[in-house]
Amino acid sequence: MLVLIVMNFKFSELVGYMKPSEIRELLKFASSPDLISLGGGMPNPDTFPIDEIQEIITYVLKNSGKYALQYGNTGGLNELRTEIKKLIKGTENIDSEEKGIIVTSGSQQALYSLGKILVTPGETAITEAPTYVGAISAFNANGVDMQGIPMDENGMRIDLLEKKISELKAKGIKPKFIYTIPNYQNPAGYTMSLERRKRLLEISNENEIPIIEDNPYGELRYHGPRIPTIRSLDRDGNVIYLGTLSKVMTPGLRIGYTVGPVSVIEKINILKQALDLATNTLAQYIAYEYLKRGIIYKQVPKTIKLYSRKLDLMLKALDEYFPEGSTWSRPNGGMFIWATLNESLDTTAMVGRAIKNNVAYVSGSAFYPKGEKKNSMRLNFTYPEDDQIPVAIDRLSKVIREEESLAEAK
Ligand SMILES: Cc1ncc(COP(=O)(O)O)c(C=O)c1O
Repeated sequence: MLVLIVMNFKFSELVGYMKPSEIRELLKFASSPDLISLGGGMPNPDTFPIDEIQEIITYVLKNSGKYALQYGNTGGLNELRTEIKKLIKGTENIDSEEKGIIVTSGSQQALYSLGKILVTPGETAITEAPTYVGAISAFNANGVDMQGIPMDENGMRIDLLEKKISELKAKGIKPKFIYTIPNYQNPAGYTMSLERRKRLLEISNENEIPIIEDNPYGELRYHGPRIPTIRSLDRDGNVIYLGTLSKVMTPGLRIGYTVGPVSVIEKINILKQALDLATNTLAQYIAYEYLKRGIIYKQVPKTIKLYSRKLDLMLKALDEYFPEGSTWSRPNGGMFIWATLNESLDTTAMVGRAIKNNVAYVSGSAFYPKGEKKNSMRLNFTYPEDDQIPVAIDRLSKVIREEESLAEAK
């Protein structure tokens, strides 16, 4: 028998900051077919335009196969960039030129790239707290020291942001960027008010700190008015805007885009030459046809109908089953509800018991750059079947009550 002696690899310092996703690790051990997961961040596959994409693939291979299967431009397919330009003008009133747009492999790649090109390892940047776990991974992988600003139902607390900037200034630290997800935030479900968006721009200007505005959920609006994107309010070129087709087409095709000052886009382009040379060409052709044919405008209303029904079902179940002393966000869009339990509970410690009881969630601490808050959890309402939603919330409520009794008995 061949015995392989594996070398004792010495990894880089940055590898020490990288953490595996908690939910992926836990779900490896969850084999029960009865498990209902509220943990993932996945769109519902019922929204995928499978027939349309099948038709598009046949069309593209027949008509542009020689190009669609070839290496592409690092910046992205020109025709796709033109469609993206039209899309963001129409939906978000964002003005841009093609050379101010780069197509990326999901907006995840843009987050990683921005962490790399704007920050020297050890420097500071500001995020919301809680914030998107993938942004934490992307920034950690680049050695970014993240300072989280608490939120309320109107988004990032701008008063606390100002306080943090002054505190850092007193220590001679200037944050390299402010990262925000203003619409239906992942994980909290909150939306930043118009007033705060305007104030955020003023602060960015006064302190010369760029804003990264990440807007994957903007089109998934179920209630309330559309609030202008920060980028559309910006007159000074301070905002780098991230968009994606993951939630309005499919995530599997991995098409995201960054809109920003040409100087920034050029630097992302140079980094992308090192990362993957270019985004998948066939996927870009598919996205181009999907936008050009206007399929997105039929797809989004269907998705909104499905998700808003699921959101209402989850809110109703929470009202009915969740123990007293817990609170939760009531999002106007997006994919997530953020629930906060009695202070004595630790949702990370509780997740194993939840999985044993066939329900999964992601514990709140995963969404804090420094893992500080212990008694919150993110609940996804878009993936489970309608009839699974009340069952999952009922199971979770029982687990929380058991955990409360145990905490009291201690
Ligand atoms: C806030 C936020 N940003 C970025 C992403 C990454 O999306 P993409 O599929 O475009 O990489 C997600 C995905 O869930 C997200 O929630």
